[in-house]
Amino acid sequence: MFLVKRPALLLCLFLLSGGLSTASANPPGHALATAHPAATEAGLEILNAGGNAFDAAIAVSAVLGIVEPYSSGIGGGGFFLLHDSAQNHTTMLDARERAPLAAHRDLYLDADGNVDRDRALNGPLAAGIPGIAAAWGHLAEHYAQLPLARSLKSAIHHARDGVPLNPKLQRAMAARAETFLRYPGSSVFVLDSPNPPPDTRVIQDGLASTMALLAEKGAQAFYRGPLAETLVAEVRDAGGIWSLEDLEQYRVVEREPITIHWRDAEIVTAALPSATGVILAQVFNMLGEDWLDENRGDVRIHRLIEALRRAYLERAEHLGDPDHVDVPVEQLISADYARELMADFDPERATSSQNLYTAEPEAGNTTHFSILDRDGNWVSATLSINGLFGSGFIAPGTGILLNNEMDDFSAKPGSPNLYGLVGSEANAIAPGKRMLSSMAPTAVHRANTLALLGTPGGSRITTMVMQGILQFLQGADAKSLVSSPRLHHQALPDKVFIEPDTVVDQERLEAKGHVFEVAEPWGNMQVVVWDTHEARLDAASDPRGLGSAKIEMLNIND
Ligand code: DON
Repeated sequence: MFLVKRPALLLCLFLLSGGLSTASANPPGHALATAHPAATEAGLEILNAGGNAFDAAIAVSAVLGIVEPYSSGIGGGGFFLLHDSAQNHTTMLDARERAPLAAHRDLYLDADGNVDRDRALNGPLAAGIPGIAAAWGHLAEHYAQLPLARSLKSAIHHARDGVPLNPKLQRAMAARAETFLRYPGSSVFVLDSPNPPPDTRVIQDGLASTMALLAEKGAQAFYRGPLAETLVAEVRDAGGIWSLEDLEQYRVVEREPITIHWRDAEIVTAALPSATGVILAQVFNMLGEDWLDENRGDVRIHRLIEALRRAYLERAEHLGDPDHVDVPVEQLISADYARELMADFDPERATSSQNLYTAEPEAGNTTHFSILDRDGNWVSATLSINGLFGSGFIAPGTGILLNNEMDDFSAKPGSPNLYGLVGSEANAIAPGKRMLSSMAPTAVHRANTLALLGTPGGSRITTMVMQGILQFLQGADAKSLVSSPRLHHQALPDKVFIEPDTVVDQERLEAKGHVFEVAEPWGNMQVVVWDTHEARLDAASDPRGLGSAKIEMLNIND
C-alpha cells in the first residue's frame, strides 16, 4: 500500500524526506527555467554574482512582472515552494491575495442575485490584497544573501528601458484594451495604433519608480506609508473597497506542503489554499500503486478521468482557505476515503458529473519558474494576477497593475468562475480570506533524482502537474515533461479536453461514455531536473511559451 503523509506527522515527515532528499551532495552548477528569457538571464546573473536560489527567485519574479505584465506582478500573489539545503527544510511560502476586509459573500451579486461577471473580473473591485512584495520582504529577510535592492535592479532596468513588443504581448494588450480604456492609469498598455512599429517598447516608468522605492525602503513600503495611501485612495476612487488596514494586515504564511508517497516517489506540492496538493493526493490514492503497470492505455485513462472527476467534485465541495474554514485534509487524503470515493467506479462506464453546464474555461494567465542553485537550495514558484492582465486596472501614480484574483472565490454556489470551476461555502468570499487556488509549485524526488515543476493554466494546473509527475516517474527528461501533449478533465464541464497531438484510445473511451473535445494547446511548464548520482542537470521551458532554460556548470576551481 502506498503512504500519503499527513501534515501532522512531522517527525515521520522529517525522517522520510531526509531519506529521499538530495541533501548529500551539491549540484554541479545551477539551473533554472522561466517563462521569459529576460527573467532567466536576470536569475542567472544573480546566481553568478553569488546570490542563492532565493535571491534569484526575487530577481526572476520581479523581471517576469515587467516582461510578462499580463501574467504576474507586484499587484498579484502566488506560492513559492522553498528548499533550504543547509537546514534540509522544505516549506511553502503562501503569498496568496486576501479578500479586503470590506468584502462579503454576495459582493458580486446583482439585484437579481446573479453574478456580475464584469465586476468580478474588471477594475479594482476584482482585486485581492497583493502578496508578492511581502514575499520578497520575507525571502530577503530569511533566506536570501543579497540586498533586496540588488535583486530588484534588473527588473527596474527593464521597466525603465521598456519591453520590446512581441506578438504575445501585443495580442494580450489588444484583448484587454476595452478594460484599459476605462482606467486612465492603465494607458501604458494601450497601443497608439493596431499596427505598431516593430521597434515599439512598452515602458513602465511608474512601476520602475515604485520598485525603486521598495528597493530603497524595503518591501514593507508597499503596505504602509505614501505608496499604500495612494493605492488605497486610487482603488476607492475607481470603485474598489481596499483600506489601509487591509494593506497593514497582510502577511505571508509559511505552510507545511502536502507530501505524497506513491510507488518509489516522494511528491512535495502545494497545500491549501491551493487545492492541487489535496486533489493530487486523492487522485494518486484512487489510481492505486499498480495503475502504471496496466498495459491497456484506455483502462489507465478511464481510471484517471474517473479519479479526476471525483477529486474535482471534492474540491468544489470541501476546499477553501484553511485559516477560515475547517477542511478535514487528513481525512480527505486518506486511503480509506479514496476507497469510498471509488466505490461506484465502473471499469466499463463513465460516471456522470451531473448538473452539466456549458461554461468553457476562458484564457487567463500566470507564470511558473524553477531554480536550483549550486548549494542545492531550490525554489519552485507559481505566481499570478489571475486573468490576462489581471483586473486591467493600474492604480494611478503607482504603476501597479492589480490582480482579479477575487474571481477565484465561489461568487455564488454552483456558478462557474473564469476557469469553469464551481465552489461552495468553503470557498465563499469572506473578509481577509484567501481564495482557493490551483497553483502548484511542485518537487518530485525519485531514486536519486529531483524534478522541480509547475505551470500556469487555472484549473488545468492540477492535471498538468499530475501528468508531469507521472511522466517523470516513468523516466521522462525535462524536455519531454514540458512538451508532451496534455489531457484534462475537471468534472464540470463533463468533458475530456485534449490537445491536438494527444494520443488516447478515444474510440474505446467514448464507448464507455466519455466525451472528448480537442482544444488549443495550453500551459507553460518550466522544469529543472537534478540527478544527484550522475551529478547531471537538465532544464527545459515549455515550447508553447516564450521562456528559456539555462544550466551553468561550475568551474571546478570556483
Ligand atoms: O490561483 C489560481 O488557481 C488561478 N488564479 C491561476 C490562474 C492561471 O493559472 C491562469 N493561467 N492560464
